Amino acid sequence: MPLLAMKNITKTFPGVMALDGVNFDLCSGEAHSLVGENGAGKSTLIKVLTGVYRQDEGEILLEDKRIQPLSPFESQRMGVSTVYQEINLVPELSVEENLFLGRQPMKLGRIDWKKIRRMAEKALSRLNLQIDPSMPLSSFSIATQQMIAIARSLDISARVLILDEPTSSLDHHEVERLFSIIRKLKSEGLGVIFISHFLDQIFEVSDRLTILRNGQLIETCEVSRISRLELVAKMTGKSIEDLKTAQPYSGKKGTNIGKREILKAERLGRKKDIAPFDLQLHEGEILGFAGLLGSGRTQAAELLFGLKQPDTGKIKREGVEVSIRSPQKAVQYGIGFLPEDRKTQGIFPDLSVRENIILAFQSKKGWWKPLSRKKQELITKNFIETLQIKTADMEKPVGQLSGGNQQKVILARWLASQPEIIILDEPTRGIDVGAKAEIESLIHNLCSEGLSIILISGELEEVERNSHRIMVFRDKVIVSELEGENLNLPNIMKLIAEGEANPRETIQA
Ligand SMILES: Nc1ncnc2c1ncn2[C@@H]1O[C@H](COP(=O)(O)OP(=O)(O)OP(=O)(O)O)[C@@H](O)[C@H]1O
Ligand SMILES: [Mg+2]
Repeated sequence: MPLLAMKNITKTFPGVMALDGVNFDLCSGEAHSLVGENGAGKSTLIKVLTGVYRQDEGEILLEDKRIQPLSPFESQRMGVSTVYQEINLVPELSVEENLFLGRQPMKLGRIDWKKIRRMAEKALSRLNLQIDPSMPLSSFSIATQQMIAIARSLDISARVLILDEPTSSLDHHEVERLFSIIRKLKSEGLGVIFISHFLDQIFEVSDRLTILRNGQLIETCEVSRISRLELVAKMTGKSIEDLKTAQPYSGKKGTNIGKREILKAERLGRKKDIAPFDLQLHEGEILGFAGLLGSGRTQAAELLFGLKQPDTGKIKREGVEVSIRSPQKAVQYGIGFLPEDRKTQGIFPDLSVRENIILAFQSKKGWWKPLSRKKQELITKNFIETLQIKTADMEKPVGQLSGGNQQKVILARWLASQPEIIILDEPTRGIDVGAKAEIESLIHNLCSEGLSIILISGELEEVERNSHRIMVFRDKVIVSELEGENLNLPNIMKLIAEGEANPRETIQA
C-alpha cells in the first residue's frame, strides 16, 4: 500500500486544463520527483494535495484513508508538510520564534519559552542543524534559513514532505546538505516529493519520477530505468532523434564585439558588499559574473543599476561620468536589470501579461505618452511567441501563470524596453530545459544586434558557455578576469575555490 495516492485528479482553470486525470503515488521511504516543462502542472498537483486548490475530479488517499484538506494548514495537520521556493519566514525574529510562530505552546496564559527552546532544539537536531535557536534568522545563510523552513514545516507527525524547487538558490555544498537531510528523512520512513528543473539533482536524489506534460501524466518509472535523453524527450514530446540532432549553442566567442565602451566602472565599491572593482563593457558583449552565492555578484550589479549607492568610485556611460542614484535613472541611461529575486522584485501578479510586459517600456517613454493598445498587443504577442510564454491569452493575470512562465514575462518586460545594456541575474533559474536553450539563443541574437549584457549565473557551465569574457568573484572581491582560451570551466572553478586571490595579471590572456 502506498503512503499517498492521488487518483484521476483533474483541475481546470478558465481556458486551461492544468491537470487531466493524473495518477500519482508515493511510498514511505521514497523520494519521488515530479518533472515537466514550465506550465506542465507540477505545482498545481501539489496545491491540490495541500488544499490550496480543490480538484474538479479525483480523490486523494493518505495511508488508504480518503482526505480532502481545505487549507495548507489542514494538510499539514494531516501529515503533509510543504516547503515552497520562497521562504515565508520573518528574518528579524529568532530561529525559535520562526519555528513556532502562530502555534506557540502556552502555559498559564503566557508563551512557554522554556518549552519552545526544548522543542526548537529537538526540531533542529532532527535535521542535524547545530545552531543557536535564540539567534535572529537573518544571521544565517539562505541555505540554513531554508533548512529552518523545513524544520518548521516538519511536524513530528509529518508523513509526506514536499519540496517545490527548493534548490534553485543553493550552491553545490548546500544542495548536498539538503540531499543528506532528504536521505535521513527517507530512512525515518517519510515520503518526499521533489520538484526541480535540474536534471542532475533529479537523478541523484530520487528513486522514482513522474513526468507531466500539458497537464497529462506521461509516465511514472524508476529513475534507474530512464536515460536523460529519454526523460527530456518525454517531457518535451520530441523524439530522441530530434534531440540528438538539435545542436546546443556552439558559441561565437570574441566575434561581433564592438570597440565602443558602453559602460565603465572605476574603483566602484561599497563597504561590506563588494570591494572596489574596475569593469568595462563593450557594445555587443556578454560579460559573465561567475562566483558562489554571496560572493558579491549581485551586489556589484546593484551598484551599476542604482539600487544601492557606492561609497567609492565612479561609473561612466560611453565615456561620460554619470551618477546613477536610482533604478529610474539607470533606466533613463538605457540600463535594464532582471533581478534574481523575481518573486518580490518584479512581478505584479494582478496585472495582465500585457500590462506586465509593457511596463518598463512605457515608463521609459513617459507615462504621459501612452502606447496605443494596438502597439501594446503587438509587442506582447511578439514576446509571447519568441519566449514561448505559456498563457491562455495576454489578458490573463500574471499571478496565474506557472512559475517559469512568470519569469519569462519579466524577461520580456526588460527586453521590450529596448535597453542598450541589460543585467541578467540568474535569467534561467526555474526555467525548463527547452526554454533555457531558447533564452540562451535569444541572448546571443540580441547581442549580435548590439545589446551589451552582464550575465550572472550560479551555473558555471551557463556563464562559461555564453560569455565573451568573465569576471570571477570570491568573497566580495573580483579576483580575476578570464577571456580567450583562458575562459574555461577548470580555470573558473579553480579561481572560485582557491583560498587566496590570484593576481589578475597571471590569468589574463
Ligand atoms: N490560479 C490559477 N489560475 C489560472 N490558471 C492557473 C492557475 N494556476 C496555474 N494555472 C495554469 O495551470 C497550468 C499549470 O501550472 P503549474 O503552475 O502547475 O505549472 P508548473 O508545472 O508548476 O510550471 P513551472 O515549472 O513553471 O513552475 C499553467 O498553464 C498555468 O497557467
Ligand atoms: Mg511550479
